[in-house]
Amino acid sequence: MAGGRKVELAEALAMGPGWRHACHALLYAPDPRLLFGRFPLRYAVLMQMRFDGRLGFPGGFVEARDGSLEDGLNRELREELGEAAAAFRVERADHRGARLGPRPGLLAHFYAKRLTPEQLRAVEAGAARARDHGLEVLGLVRVPLYTLQDGVGGLPAFLENSFIGAAREQLLEALEDLELLEPDAISYLKTRTPPQ
Ligand code: APR
Ligand code: MG
Repeated sequence: MAGGRKVELAEALAMGPGWRHACHALLYAPDPRLLFGRFPLRYAVLMQMRFDGRLGFPGGFVEARDGSLEDGLNRELREELGEAAAAFRVERADHRGARLGPRPGLLAHFYAKRLTPEQLRAVEAGAARARDHGLEVLGLVRVPLYTLQDGVGGLPAFLENSFIGAAREQLLEALEDLELLEPDAISYLKTRTPPQ
């Protein structure tokens, strides 16, 4: 279930009342540790197992009562991640793009925000107390950014999961654009065939 056509934010905002907006965010923080003393973790990047069995980013539908896209996103983050998400705010400057779909009439906005390691760990520690835990959110996961010696374990295997909407493409674009991965790791991933 890949994402649809990309649209500029101004175009998305001008699309009228027949369209629903959904906002999701990639939250990340540096993590200098090594797995098995060898594989650099580089960053903790959060995704979640959703109620539909797919991986996605925290966030959701913007409601009429929300004053802005970002008000809706930050409300959803508190519902899905818990009160530790109140320690920061995802802003318009963190907007990375909008796409049509995956449903008709849906505009899916994507944001990325760098947290401190302490903020991210607080989100993880409190996630099981969030309102939506066990309902819309079945658990937070960190994305493995390394590739193990077999060339598959780690990020390549993670990318073979099922993702909601444009989440897989959004993840890969963010890893590249935010330089969370080395360029040679990006090149390696691009040599692998994406799932149908
Ligand atoms: N890229 C593109 N679209 C996405 C992404 C993404 N990364 N993540 C989710 N979507 C789409 C989903 O397909 C959904 O249609 O955005 C819409 C809203 O996102 P959710 O996070 O699923 O919505 P949320 O408000 O958190 O609550 C789930 O969805 O299906 C309904 O009734 C269900 O009330 C429930 C709600
Ligand atoms: Mg959601």
